[in-house]
Amino acid sequence: MKHARADFPKDFLFGVATSSYQIEGHGFGGAGRTQWDDFAATPGNVKNAENGAVAVDHYHRYPEDLDLVAAAGFDCYRFSTSWARVMPDGKTVNPEGLDFYDRLTDAMLERGIKPCATLYHWELPSPILDMGGWRNRDIAGWFADYTQALMGRIGDRMYSVAPINEPWCVAWLSHFMGYHAPGLRDIRATARAMHHVLLAHGRAIEVMRGLGMDNLGAVFNFEWADPADDSAEAAEKAALYDAIYNRWFLGGVFKGAYPEKVLEGLGPHMPDRWQDDMALISQPVDWCGLNYYTRKLIGPDGGPWPGVKEVEGPLPKTLMGWEIYPEGLYNFLTRTAREYTGDLPLIVTENGLASPDVVKNGKVDDPQRIAYLDAHLDKVRQAIAEGVPLKGYYIWSLLDNYEWACGYEQRFGLVHVDFETLERRPKASYHALAEKLRR
Ligand code: NOJ
Repeated sequence: MKHARADFPKDFLFGVATSSYQIEGHGFGGAGRTQWDDFAATPGNVKNAENGAVAVDHYHRYPEDLDLVAAAGFDCYRFSTSWARVMPDGKTVNPEGLDFYDRLTDAMLERGIKPCATLYHWELPSPILDMGGWRNRDIAGWFADYTQALMGRIGDRMYSVAPINEPWCVAWLSHFMGYHAPGLRDIRATARAMHHVLLAHGRAIEVMRGLGMDNLGAVFNFEWADPADDSAEAAEKAALYDAIYNRWFLGGVFKGAYPEKVLEGLGPHMPDRWQDDMALISQPVDWCGLNYYTRKLIGPDGGPWPGVKEVEGPLPKTLMGWEIYPEGLYNFLTRTAREYTGDLPLIVTENGLASPDVVKNGKVDDPQRIAYLDAHLDKVRQAIAEGVPLKGYYIWSLLDNYEWACGYEQRFGLVHVDFETLERRPKASYHALAEKLRR
């Protein structure tokens, strides 16, 4: 690793991220069934039909995992809480679930780690899906109740909280593209999910303000879109992709307005009087989180709206097939501050890659991960030097884990996990970071 803590501003926060369904083991502790259990049980959706019933058993092994976070010198642990664990039917509290997050929080604090919570990282309780899930406007109220129950218990000890992880994935990837649970390909469902996910964000922020909490934010995923060729049509489609993927959510939360380009397609399918919700959606937050991995080359597909298609790019790729494009992170940091957030603190809440990591002579060498992190940290430093109010950088992920539709095939961890024995083994990247981050 070429970058060290001393190369960053004094209060800059380094962190590492995970999410509940991907690591905890939803078969433990009285958690309810989730849309991912259902999605995975439907043939063809998930590699080897794998699910998160055991995952990496963080539910029982969290003390060991938090020791790893602390030993590497990370300041922050970005974790998520599962709605289905706290409320198995989506509405009734499971005391065991609350107890788990209470223990987990205290275990972070005991180790000097700042708890950075996300309230929803995709494990929708199946009974809520039965009632329409993100298509149903009432979800915002149910989500507010969940926020109240959970944050009423642990909110006093959170360093920061964001309600929803990656609303684009919650809405578009899951309801328009069908790649993630619930696997729909339906424009009306999509339009509703695109709006309701932000309505739920707004309701949760309102609840947490009511509890007297601060340092509340929003976490979006960002994918840089370049035109696949130099035609005007490709430029137009890349701009539309950018508007759907990135600007819809930033516009909603930071300007109280959705991009016109996207409303041209989604407008007829939007819920009634959606405009009345924009004040709630755009109430102030304290920071904006960016999850960044890659860019896409976009061109026209000749079909109906949105009529965009991804074209394979020429750059080196990660195991996920994602082009490595650190410039995109720089572009988003500078553009987001310039066009949407001004002086508001930004945090890179996820960045990392999947690589073909194997244990050899008791060690796991992952030079690609070290190079990837270094290349992105170059851009982080450049953005800071140019005045972007970037306050932290969190790596995805602490542990190899359940990579959604890819099952357990893609390893994003700084720590290798043997999925048979569940043994944890820090990779070379973990050791390199620890050397540079230790205080
Ligand atoms: C974003 C998501 O938040 C996380 O759940 C996922 O594992 C990583 N990206 C890698 O795909």
